[in-house]
Amino acid sequence: MRIPRLAIVPSGFRRTAKPLLPAFVVLVATCGPLLADSLKTTMGEMAKTTKEAKAALSTTDPATFEAILKAYGDEGKSGMALVAGGSSKARDLRARFSTFAATAEAARQSGGGPVKFKAAFGTIVNECRSCHSVYK
Ligand code: HEC
Repeated sequence: MRIPRLAIVPSGFRRTAKPLLPAFVVLVATCGPLLADSLKTTMGEMAKTTKEAKAALSTTDPATFEAILKAYGDEGKSGMALVAGGSSKARDLRARFSTFAATAEAARQSGGGPVKFKAAFGTIVNECRSCHSVYK
């Protein structure tokens, strides 16, 4: 997908930039996908944790609830760290991931049984949906 884009670079530029081109291609090929992939990776982890959370809704083990809420908190922090830049979108995404992590962390710290876990899970899933409705 990235190679054709180079074809539209004006030929004059292509001539001057030629010595730098291999380095540029390597840079784009390594950094570009890395950033996009990491957010997808974090989202994949969130999806996996959500599967575990759904399965845990029919259980009562506080340690399982705590581990799931811990995983959500860590994933929210990963999301925050992955969004760079000062654009309003980047700032909003970081704020949303920060809220997400704080929600999970507060629920983990307050502990509790299945009823509290179910309520926290509902809030967390709403935060997934709210962010996706704007950015996914
Ligand atoms: C603060 C924003 C935000 C939150 C919160 C969030 N997501 Fe996402 N999610 C995104 C964005 C942005 C994308 C699109 C990523 C891309 O295409 O690179 C995405 C994509 C995804 C994808 C598709 C990944 C792929 O491979 O295309 C899944 C699955 C997903 N999110 C699951 C979740 C789950 C589950 C939660 C909550 C537990 C969640 N997300 C919370 C922003 C968020």
